[in-house]
Amino acid sequence: MNENVHVITHPLVQHKLTVARSEDTTTDNFRRLVREIAQMMAYEITRDLPTELITIKTPVATCQAPVISGKKLCLVSILRAGTGMLDGMIDLLPNARIGHIGLYRDPETLKAIEYYFKVPDDVQDRLVIVLDPMLATGNSAAAALAHLKGAGITSLRLACILAAPEGLAAVQAEHPDVPIWVAAVDERLNDHGYIVPGLGDAGDRIFGTK
Ligand code: URA
Repeated sequence: MNENVHVITHPLVQHKLTVARSEDTTTDNFRRLVREIAQMMAYEITRDLPTELITIKTPVATCQAPVISGKKLCLVSILRAGTGMLDGMIDLLPNARIGHIGLYRDPETLKAIEYYFKVPDDVQDRLVIVLDPMLATGNSAAAALAHLKGAGITSLRLACILAAPEGLAAVQAEHPDVPIWVAAVDERLNDHGYIVPGLGDAGDRIFGTK
């Protein structure tokens, strides 16, 4: 782990993550918690966005006040679990464009297989935040980042709720230029590629498919 990895230690994020981890948390609560954690992650990930002063008139006086400037944003959800983070991010970043990358893990090899890729036409001009709640082996995130770089994108950030040290190391080895935000870095991966202690299968828990 290096200075390119940002662990969000805010007590609200940590509390909500703990509730989300519990196997007793219901699907509707899990989905809401992921959305709320994503909102707070959006706040942290955008902390260094540039601003510029514009002139506005309040009901009381004319003044100069800051607005966000610089590159426009694009959120890219890695299907399907990334979609659980999308609404929370959009809550805070309503003008962002949205892209989707469909990847699934081959259960034998744990390698990422791509089946869908759709991003806005002007994506190479945008700051792209990739959403992948579970950075386990890192294969999906690394493949998504490689594809996005291949599409000409130069400004990339990765948002994950949980990471395994193995996944972080893999993504950092392949994409040392991409900063990563996580709510927690867990102990390890198990033999099935699940994060330990983790929270189980994020997609299944968001969509209630198991
Ligand atoms: N994907 C998940 O949803 N959970 C894990 O623990 C690992 C990958």
